[in-house]
Amino acid sequence: MGEAVRHSFSKSAKTYACFSSVQDCIIKRLLAPLAPGFYARVLDLGCGSGNVLRALPDLGLRVGEFVGLDISASMLAMHPTTSLVAQSVRLECADFEKADFAPSTLVIGASSLQWAQDLARLCQRLAQRCQRVALAIHTSASLQELHAFLNTRSPLRGAKEVCSILEQSFKGFKQTMWVETFKQEFNDRESFLQQLKGSGLLGGGALPFGKAKALKHHAPYSTLSYEAIFFIGELV
Ligand SMILES: C[S@@+](CC[C@H](N)C(=O)[O-])C[C@H]1O[C@@H](n2cnc3c(N)ncnc32)[C@H](O)[C@@H]1O
Repeated sequence: MGEAVRHSFSKSAKTYACFSSVQDCIIKRLLAPLAPGFYARVLDLGCGSGNVLRALPDLGLRVGEFVGLDISASMLAMHPTTSLVAQSVRLECADFEKADFAPSTLVIGASSLQWAQDLARLCQRLAQRCQRVALAIHTSASLQELHAFLNTRSPLRGAKEVCSILEQSFKGFKQTMWVETFKQEFNDRESFLQQLKGSGLLGGGALPFGKAKALKHHAPYSTLSYEAIFFIGELV
């Protein structure tokens, strides 16, 4: 999945910010319980083009060192390199499943960790390296209208599996977990298709020609749903 995901987001890097209203909303919901506050070292996994860093001032969050890590160099090229609320910003192009993590006060993963091949291992490594963690992980109920139409299976895990992985991996942490659903409405097929293309969310795999054609001409376009598990963990 890794290379397909990297490719998909790299292709959408320039448009992602315009099509990420749901992800922006997720960031606000995820980080609100941690605000206001100062965090000495923040690691943002799958930081993309910088929506988390951009959201910090309005949320009342301040940071010492902010490290943004992403597998896509094109997404990182759109990421801000300074912020009024961060003393320093450093960007790293790496796969979060392979990178070494320095100890962090807060690790954030907003709409990104659902692409991990081995989520349990990644979370167990994070649990050893951070004091606090804030994750929003999409589930297989995301884009369900699309999968129903195409008769495809979501490449993502179901809610139960995600919750169980988080519960097990962050055992020594005070855990707060909840699930939220977001819906986007569209008036025409063109804006629906633009949303899918512009946001890079079809990252799991390329569509065969027949399905791509059906999607273009016949997709039911009124709604796109997203489901995410929200998780805040604090080392006790
Ligand atoms: C939906 S975007 C979310 C970006 C940002 N966190 C936000 O909320 O707007 C997912 C990001 O995760 C990154 N990503 C996916 N798999 C990754 C991996 N294995 N290592 C690092 N980054 C990854 C993608 O390149 C993409 O930028």
